[in-house]
Amino acid sequence: MKIPFNTPHFCGTESKYIAEAFENKQFSGDGIFTEKVSVELENIFNAKRVLLTHSCTAALEMCAILLNISPGEEVIMPSFTFVSTANAFVLRGGCPVFVDIDPLTQNIDIEAIEHAISSKTKAIVVVHYAGISCDMERLMMLANTYNIPVIEDAAQAIYSKYNHQPLGSFGDLATVSFHETKNISCGEGGALIINNNKFIERAEIIREKGTNRSAFYRGDVDKYTWVDIGSSFLPGEVSAAFLFAQLQQGCEITNRRMEKWQTYHKYFSCLDPSLVGEAMFVPRYSEHNAHMYYLLCPDLARRSHFISHMRSHGVGCVFHYVPLHSSPAGRKYGLCAGSLSNTKRAGNCLVRLPMGPGVDVVTVLHAVNHYLRL
Ligand SMILES: Cc1ncc(COP(=O)(O)O)c(C=O)c1O
Repeated sequence: MKIPFNTPHFCGTESKYIAEAFENKQFSGDGIFTEKVSVELENIFNAKRVLLTHSCTAALEMCAILLNISPGEEVIMPSFTFVSTANAFVLRGGCPVFVDIDPLTQNIDIEAIEHAISSKTKAIVVVHYAGISCDMERLMMLANTYNIPVIEDAAQAIYSKYNHQPLGSFGDLATVSFHETKNISCGEGGALIINNNKFIERAEIIREKGTNRSAFYRGDVDKYTWVDIGSSFLPGEVSAAFLFAQLQQGCEITNRRMEKWQTYHKYFSCLDPSLVGEAMFVPRYSEHNAHMYYLLCPDLARRSHFISHMRSHGVGCVFHYVPLHSSPAGRKYGLCAGSLSNTKRAGNCLVRLPMGPGVDVVTVLHAVNHYLRL
């Protein structure tokens, strides 16, 4: 493929910091680099505490434990999301209640959340799709009215903002991903962002296999032992060193992605949407991080045609989520609130274009021009 859908970005300083991690002679987690990265993330997310994890999936699983999700309890979330958003709660016996998305942003429909609330509702999980913010003011007002905790799945949303406030800083808890496909990466990685003080102490325990080892290392207790349920959710120092290098260039990476995003947007927002697809929509309240450029094709057949045309020109374009409510596990473990027509449309029509700080947008658009001449 001349232009793959995703090309991992290297800053050039990763190996220098990994060599430092070797010199520190600590490869297990919670060493010097984990500490440096956590402080950096606390600043970015304006968070009370950030705990580095080995994936966003792991951070979501920690959220489900922290909220004591028990069998039969319901968690409202979009169906148009990655499996981990739902799976983390199903692992605790919880029931995902899938609601529809807004057709303009592909983010959870706030009105649909209100219709789905029941006496069994234990949490609301929102996803900031493509790094574009949900309407957080409306969402938090609704959650506060019903006194339901909010989790932001900000897997794609590092550096994004809602009315100048960082995404990931609104919910009681939030999660972020540093998977290879994300703006800032260490291959596999993630973090739990804690905005509500009451979760900090228990989150440390859950992340350390259910032990109070973190408190022991701080000198708060004189021995450590098994005190709660938990698992091994922390990454090693080599991953943290890699991530530190990327975070040091976070603003530069975002700016470079934004230039690519703008070039795509100028092109597609001037084009008749029936030719390839509808351009992305960014609400006024959202400052996004150029995580993704997508189009909404008129239908499934035309999306498939577009993807295979681009492939034949060496350009990797991909569709995104198969809606969870229509997946085998989603049907088994979840419930549907309404007909989810906007979700079905996104599942059938959304196509993602290659994106990254170094992507050759001119060549991508050349292949699109060719498609238009067919
Ligand atoms: C919305 C969302 N949530 C969670 C995840 C899981 O992230 P990770 O691969 O870091 O576990 C992803 C990954 O793409 C995602 O897009």
